[in-house]
Amino acid sequence: MAAPGSTFRAQYGPWALIAGGSVGLGGEFARQLALRGFNLILVARREGPLEEHARTLAAAYRIETRTVVADLGDPQILPVLREATRELEIGLVVYNAATSPIGRHLEQSIEDKLRVLDVNCRGPLLLIHEFCPPMVARRRGGIILMTSMSGLQGSALITTYAATKAFDLVLGEGLWDELREEGVDVLAFCAGATRTPNFEESSPARSGFFTAPMEPEPVVAEALAALGRTPSAVAGARNRLAGLLMARLMPRRLAVETIGKATRAMYGK
Ligand SMILES: NC(=O)c1ccc[n+]([C@@H]2O[C@H](COP(=O)([O-])OP(=O)(O)OC[C@H]3O[C@@H](n4cnc5c(N)ncnc54)[C@H](OP(=O)(O)O)[C@@H]3O)[C@@H](O)[C@H]2O)c1
Repeated sequence: MAAPGSTFRAQYGPWALIAGGSVGLGGEFARQLALRGFNLILVARREGPLEEHARTLAAAYRIETRTVVADLGDPQILPVLREATRELEIGLVVYNAATSPIGRHLEQSIEDKLRVLDVNCRGPLLLIHEFCPPMVARRRGGIILMTSMSGLQGSALITTYAATKAFDLVLGEGLWDELREEGVDVLAFCAGATRTPNFEESSPARSGFFTAPMEPEPVVAEALAALGRTPSAVAGARNRLAGLLMARLMPRRLAVETIGKATRAMYGK
């Protein structure tokens, strides 16, 4: 029997770069790719959790790891990543990191709102620009852009974040169509509420049927299974049902009002 993930690794290995790969969904992407035998470059801002995760995975799965302590919203991120990945064959990039300030749009500073653009939109564009051409040259590789159910329509209290997630969704879908002819698979993957440190810290006041959080493990497993099969996908049956209702069946106005009620209830505002 083939080793777990050996075909997947042959298609997208030997190195994967996970932008935001220390904890939560990013940490779980790292774990599931290590299980498939990938060597990993993990990027995050906090050195402690990043180094610990890299060490644990290297020991448990006998893989090579490199860590990059950096802010993906930094305009100078590319030279840093280029230096850290020199002579490595990167076959898979997962752009997982995101910034999501919660609150009324006009009460947030312009600096905070522009930072959301930098991390959630500028970062993916930069990494795609840097790491896709070698994949195209090899006619082999993959890109996963993590996006969100909140990118399916305007969402009160997370207006800028939701708009950037719509950007990631549409960017990923367009690239899927352009790059599949070149042998590179692109996937925009929508998570719904997922129990990550980031999610827990935002302290959702309560969750309803459609906002009950999933665990990171099945979300990541579904994303890896969807790569190469579809331009975009949604994690979990409950989120897929919610997506169908909100994006396809409801009038747009009703969808925006419904998500607004859910975010206000979740964040107690
Ligand atoms: N969790 C949810 O409920 C949920 C729902 C829908 C969509 N999503 C999407 O799923 C993805 C992951 O979500 P998550 O929020 O739960 O995060 P997460 O997977 O728990 O962690 C975020 C990772 O990114 C790193 N990171 C964050 N900002 C960074 C920056 N500016 N530069 C470098 N590294 C950074 C974090 O480490 P450091 O903090 O040390 O930098 C951490 O490793 C996001 O794209 C998000 O939009 C999540």
